[in-house]
Amino acid sequence: MILSLFGLTNRVAIVTGAGRGIGKGIALGFAEAGADIVIAEIDPALAEETAGEIRAKGRKALVAPTDVRIASQVDHVVEQTLKEFGKIDILVNNAGGWTVFSPVLGIEEQDWDRCIELNLKGAFLCCKAVGKVMVRQKRGAIVNISSLAGFVPFTAAPHYGAAKAAVANLTQTLAMELAPHKVRVNAIAPGSVETDLTDKLYSTQPGLREYRIKTIPLGRLGRPQDIAAAALYLASDAADWVTGETLMVRGGMLGIPSQS
Ligand SMILES: NC(=O)c1ccc[n+]([C@@H]2O[C@H](COP(=O)([O-])OP(=O)(O)OC[C@H]3O[C@@H](n4cnc5c(N)ncnc54)[C@H](O)[C@@H]3O)[C@@H](O)[C@H]2O)c1
Repeated sequence: MILSLFGLTNRVAIVTGAGRGIGKGIALGFAEAGADIVIAEIDPALAEETAGEIRAKGRKALVAPTDVRIASQVDHVVEQTLKEFGKIDILVNNAGGWTVFSPVLGIEEQDWDRCIELNLKGAFLCCKAVGKVMVRQKRGAIVNISSLAGFVPFTAAPHYGAAKAAVANLTQTLAMELAPHKVRVNAIAPGSVETDLTDKLYSTQPGLREYRIKTIPLGRLGRPQDIAAAALYLASDAADWVTGETLMVRGGMLGIPSQS
């Protein structure tokens, strides 16, 4: 009985940045739980790979080439989704990341803007476009991907930390705005998860990966599946009385060492 609350049978989910890493893990996890997936991804080749794996699980996958920073492209994904499936049950704002590593005093203005655009503006545009549909439906669940970096100092990429803190705040505010319409809005703040994104950081600093693992009480880096499990909970009816929360999924990590 309780397990059925965690199912997503015949739900329709848009997952941004689902071509690889955490977004792909969430898309595949949701498909296993019974959802059809719209892959809103900037890299069409990666999106096709994810789509193939979803179809192999017996669910539908719509590849929607999208740059989440561009409002017209976000609106287009929403139109495509409604045309194909007639509804949007779930939105996961996962597309994000960093561009450069620098302390605050070294960040160039354009790098600051690019990071805020990708992580914060992208989430805002998707929340706005999909939120309007969910309000009309009087139903929906949004899951934003924030970061532990939004809650503790992340000296390698402070602009990224600031953007992710803002994503958590947007989550709380939007949750209040949409609660009367039965639309829930939550976030996940992952600690260090092994993906191409973090590989880039470790490649600049030999020894950092191993050093970080030593600081993680549960003794390992996160896996996309760890975040997918949390996203499944927040997107499903099991979290029917949960909104405005940011769930930390971080193996007990209290800080983010940027140097070994
Ligand atoms: N990996 C971690 O340790 C970690 C920790 C905390 C939070 N996060 C967050 O989780 C999310 C996923 O991270 P990841 O590690 O899987 O990253 P990743 O770089 O491995 O994957 C990101 C995906 O997003 C796509 N993408 C990039 N820009 C896009 C855009 N403008 N529009 C649409 N798609 C775009 C990429 O092509 C890629 O498929 C990000 O928001 C990241 O900030 C990651």
